[in-house]
Amino acid sequence: AKEPVRVLVTGAAGQIGYALVPMVARGAMLGLNQPVILHMLDIPPAAEALNGVKMELVDAAFPLLKGIVATTNVVEACTGVNIAVMVGGFPRKEGMERKDVMSKNVSIYKSQASALEKHAAPNCKVLVVANPANTNALILKEFAPSIPERNITCLTRLDHNRALGQISERLNVHVGDVKNVIIWGNHSSTQYPDVNHASVKTSSGEKPVRELVGNDEWLKGEFITTVQQRGAAIIKARKLSSALSAASSACDHIRDWVLGTPEGSWVSMGVYSDGSYNVPTGLIYSFPITCKNGEWSIVKGLSIDDFSRKKLDLTAEELSEEKSLAYSCLS
Ligand code: NAI
Repeated sequence: AKEPVRVLVTGAAGQIGYALVPMVARGAMLGLNQPVILHMLDIPPAAEALNGVKMELVDAAFPLLKGIVATTNVVEACTGVNIAVMVGGFPRKEGMERKDVMSKNVSIYKSQASALEKHAAPNCKVLVVANPANTNALILKEFAPSIPERNITCLTRLDHNRALGQISERLNVHVGDVKNVIIWGNHSSTQYPDVNHASVKTSSGEKPVRELVGNDEWLKGEFITTVQQRGAAIIKARKLSSALSAASSACDHIRDWVLGTPEGSWVSMGVYSDGSYNVPTGLIYSFPITCKNGEWSIVKGLSIDDFSRKKLDLTAEELSEEKSLAYSCLS
């Protein structure tokens, strides 16, 4: 029998946590033949709710779930984990300045970085979901210097999946037949959803999305803004954040990272920039990514037109500003 993999979910008593932990326990993240032990962390005010989630996990009798650690102790939560999905964070409340939210989250990610560095299993893979996701991941990286930078990522797969969904709706094709969209940059409203290299599988072979849509005005306008603002649209409709799709995309992110992306297709992941596409180093930025043998790599050499170049630069600028703001909160 396979050894169980320990998966940490922080903020596990929250909305995304509640959607995510049963997916992990059912094998949606690591596969149907991979036993798991769930480590769930939340803060003391949420301890009772966290215990309720634990009770439900017991009641659901998941055969793959070999153990549950539910705790408000960061060290206990991080000990021995192989995968860490960081969903916990301080939400922006009415009347709060961006800097106040940033300051709360930076201090959370700084202290959790140290706990992971000291107590997680060697080669632990980290996915940051909580906003500001790219900058939280960067802080985590900076304060966990012994964790290799390639092990620290942030979630832009939800945006990637949203882009696939919009194309599939527009062209009335199955979402599984659409591939190779790209989300560039920040998980924020400056992200750039790019379809210049995307294609659709049709009965007469693979066709470029651009050609099939045949309407550049839509692709350069409404398509981009719909993807950028989808999170807000869902909050407006549900009065709650997009927990189901965020949880599902977090599973997609880890699954592809661990088990690999299919031949000929890529996904989007926020990773530490190596300067590819002239994106400054020192930022966690979303790129087109392929994965193999548990390692990701940036897809190189794609052509970037002028329209795209401006968008790539704009979202990089925002990330540089967030980084400065984060550092000003630390000092
Ligand atoms: P939520 O407020 O329902 O849950 C957050 C949980 O984190 C709460 O249970 C809270 O007690 C806990 N928490 C707060 N501080 C913590 C700490 N220091 N350690 C551990 N847990 C802590 O929020 P929801 O809807 O689950 O969203 C979680 C985060 O994910 C938010 O930051 C949200 O903006 C972000 N998000 C990111 C997406 C992405 O695509 N990257 C998509 C949707 C949401």
